[in-house]
Amino acid sequence: MNAFDKSTIHIVIPAVPALVLRSAGQSDLEFLRQWKNEQKQFFFHQEEITQEQQLNWYESFIERPYDLMLMVEFEHRLFGCMGIRWQENHWDIYNVILGLQEFGGRGLMGHAFAAMLDFAGSLKAGPISLQVLKHNPAVKWYLKQGFEITETHDSFFFMIFQPQPTKRACP
Ligand SMILES: CC(C)(COP(=O)(O)OP(=O)(O)OC[C@H]1O[C@@H](n2cnc3c(N)ncnc32)[C@H](O)[C@@H]1OP(=O)(O)O)[C@@H](O)C(=O)NCCC(=O)NCCS
Repeated sequence: MNAFDKSTIHIVIPAVPALVLRSAGQSDLEFLRQWKNEQKQFFFHQEEITQEQQLNWYESFIERPYDLMLMVEFEHRLFGCMGIRWQENHWDIYNVILGLQEFGGRGLMGHAFAAMLDFAGSLKAGPISLQVLKHNPAVKWYLKQGFEITETHDSFFFMIFQPQPTKRACP
């Protein structure tokens, strides 16, 4: 596989042309930090993230080529983020956050998420999975995005993406 520059990702979603996924940069750190802190009840990490911790994360993140953090924009307004990282033999989803609630419930995060899965799959083929706290309403959202619960633990579900087989046109 050719090396790629993860700092220049720019994905336009054909179904919703004003919706764009782009690489996170240093100027996004404060958004990432605030959104995560505001919604930390939905995540495993329950502590408040400091500016210093966020910067430390970024400095190690930029060294990992197959750890992608994508910012989501609609009509040039930044409203969310989503991450996917390669771990040994599979993709792991993380940090999926609707940052600005006014952009929620319109399918924008869903379209962006599907585009991120496609993009990751084009880089490396392998299973795509995630862990989500059982009480998180996002469980239902992930089911709609094509994930299935494959393991149930005390506090969380392990879910795996089940891509739909491509429909073949009749000859
Ligand atoms: C999970 C999360 C990203 C979903 O964001 P969202 O904006 O609600 O996502 P979408 O708009 O794609 O989908 C939400 C709803 O809009 C509906 N919808 C409305 N218009 C739509 C359209 N045109 N196309 C597709 N879906 C549409 C969807 O069907 C979905 O319905 P549901 O409420 O029955 O699930 C958001 O709730 C979030 O940030 N949660 C907190 C953080 C979190 O828990 N992250 C996951 C941690 S593991």
